[in-house]
Amino acid sequence: MTRTSTWQQILDPSHRADPYPLYTELRKTPVVRVEDGTYVVSTYREIVSLLHDPRLSSDARNLPEVGADVAAQYEEGLPGLPPNFIRTDPPEHDRLRRLLTRNFGPPHRPERIDGMMSDLLGIVTRLIDDFTGEDGSGTVRVDIVDDFAYPFPVTVICELLGVPREDEPRFQVMSGAVIETADPTTGGIVERQRRRAKAVADLGQYFAQLLDARHGRRGDDLLSGLLSGDSDEAPMSREEILSNAALLLVAGHETTVNLVTNGMLTLLRHPEVLDRLRRGDEPDLAAHVVEELLRYEPPVQFLSSGRNTLDDIEIAGTTIPKGSPVALVLASGSRDPGFVTDPDRFDPDREHNEHLGFGGGIHYCFGAPLARPETQIALTQLAHRLKNPRLVADPPPYRTSPSLRGPRHLLIEIDGVD
Ligand code: HEM
Repeated sequence: MTRTSTWQQILDPSHRADPYPLYTELRKTPVVRVEDGTYVVSTYREIVSLLHDPRLSSDARNLPEVGADVAAQYEEGLPGLPPNFIRTDPPEHDRLRRLLTRNFGPPHRPERIDGMMSDLLGIVTRLIDDFTGEDGSGTVRVDIVDDFAYPFPVTVICELLGVPREDEPRFQVMSGAVIETADPTTGGIVERQRRRAKAVADLGQYFAQLLDARHGRRGDDLLSGLLSGDSDEAPMSREEILSNAALLLVAGHETTVNLVTNGMLTLLRHPEVLDRLRRGDEPDLAAHVVEELLRYEPPVQFLSSGRNTLDDIEIAGTTIPKGSPVALVLASGSRDPGFVTDPDRFDPDREHNEHLGFGGGIHYCFGAPLARPETQIALTQLAHRLKNPRLVADPPPYRTSPSLRGPRHLLIEIDGVD
């Protein structure tokens, strides 16, 4: 098997249920150039080094073909919104991230998330209360994705941003379109960047209408905070707010749904850990389970779509030339035996767990202080309340994306809820 064909297999949906043996194969060549010219990096040390390397840009406009296309669009008079901060480099990235951080979570606004803890529990409790549909035999069938793992983070991010929950069918289509562009099997980089810019602009327009409908009224939500711009720095422009609100809405739920679902699937495959969580006598267990899930079954398998080299980069004996697209396979790095002992074992009791599930460096997940308690509460409550949960199908059907990976459905049967 050649290395290149290993990457093709990773992209192939038929390997979605278990890509990990393919990552083992991939790691034999830490840096490999694949068919479309992307340099794929799969070992822990190399990924971490590149995540911290200022010569690796997150701004797709630096790729010559994307830059030329964006310039052509300006010529045609079709400028979209400015890129959101996941797709920018310093100093732009740092300014936008700083302005958002002032309004979200520790250290500036810890109460924003702390104050949400009882809301999180309340939302989870209501969703589990609704697990009904008994078939007369006492058995209830539930889809953990549609009935739980999806509606939960959607409700949370709506509350945080001040977006009406009932608008979900509307923004879901646009959010799905943004996510799809992170999947390299859906088209070439130029075309995907165009689709992404369009989907972000559509979401931005949705947010613009939302703000207009408020007629300047401000609430306690994140959007209101950004609009008030109460900092010594120049506030975000309206376009920047719209673009970054779109990012938060998408990133705030499309990833957490997969972590919660991957989590429930993993717990059902490891009943001894599920039992420990159910017993509830180990206060730190939920936190350890979630960290181990971020290593063992992470929603974000790799980062690509736009990362590129601003200069030649010498790494693991290979020179990645300036102007090359790069994919960092986080999920492979977190299972690199050179970094972690017994990497293919799900072990919430490991002492050291510096996984790559939230990325690293300046783009380290902004939502981690929210995603962690969300997933801990979700899994703890499922473990406590579901009576005798069992999988209907293993493996479950997966979403097609190789980069943002998780089951499309997770059907389970239970004997009711406590
Ligand atoms: C960045 C994963 C939840 C907002 C990232 C990155 C990863 C990641 C791997 C790095 C991207 C890169 O370097 O290009 C996850 C996972 C989550 C999760 C696995 C859930 C389990 C959230 C939530 C939010 C969020 C709930 C929002 C409330 C962001 C943002 C960035 C980011 C805005 C960009 C940060 C920057 O560029 O500085 N996330 N995320 N994420 N995440 Fe998350």
